[in-house]
Amino acid sequence: MANAFHYSIGKKFIQAVSGAFLIFFFLLHMTINFFSVIDTFTGKYGADDGLFKLGCEFMALPIVKLMVPVLALGFLVHIAYGIYLTIYNFRARGGVKRYEVASKAAADSWSATNMFVLGIVILGILFFHLSHFWAKMQLLEFMGQEAENPYMLLNTTFHSWIILAVYIIWFIAIFLHLSHGFWSMFQTVGWNNQIWMKRLKVIGIIVAAFICLGFVTVAVNAFLQSNALI
Ligand code: HEM
Repeated sequence: MANAFHYSIGKKFIQAVSGAFLIFFFLLHMTINFFSVIDTFTGKYGADDGLFKLGCEFMALPIVKLMVPVLALGFLVHIAYGIYLTIYNFRARGGVKRYEVASKAAADSWSATNMFVLGIVILGILFFHLSHFWAKMQLLEFMGQEAENPYMLLNTTFHSWIILAVYIIWFIAIFLHLSHGFWSMFQTVGWNNQIWMKRLKVIGIIVAAFICLGFVTVAVNAFLQSNALI
């Protein structure tokens, strides 16, 4: 049975490397977004020389824009292999006869299925998100038009508490996906000694919480700004 759960390491490795790349993207993206929170404290939210606006301008530099296809590829590879590994895992488990698996294997497959479901939620809401920001900034620029003001987009997007709630559900799904994905990534590359696994699980929770809380703060700040509550 153990063998049946032995993923093709090469494929899992690709999953881990693309995952690591996406974690770096999250950290960068969250940091630039967080500038809008700093702007609130410095009184520059909405100003032309606000940090968040400067961050968006930096992201619009041609050299940074070159990274867009690389980022898209990173997402695509991660999603494609995620689907592959989930199907592989399901087949190795003997299809629907889940009750026959040993408890360790059952636990593994439970988290793998969870990762898959969380991945779908994250991907679904990502399209919603891209329609709010990317379509009105970078896409317009690609089409030779001027990007819309980023503070205005923050205010329009987060004006409604329902949208805010959808985004917060998204951030929670990202937290759950990352906190598992982080240590799983190290396990794949062979760093699976007992002591380090425990530490990596804790570090994974800290990294995921940092990213998630950063995004939540940005969204809540924009909601408060938009509704003139601060
Ligand atoms: C409060 C949370 C967030 C805000 C305010 C925000 C804001 C933005 C903005 C302003 C852009 C457009 C950048 C440009 O076109 O120059 C953008 C693009 C993008 N966002 Fe977000 N974002 C948030 C969370 C996320 C999360 C959690 C993800 C990943 C699941 C994500 C993925 C992307 C991607 C893939 C792009 C397109 C590539 C890029 O322009 O960098 N965003 N976001």
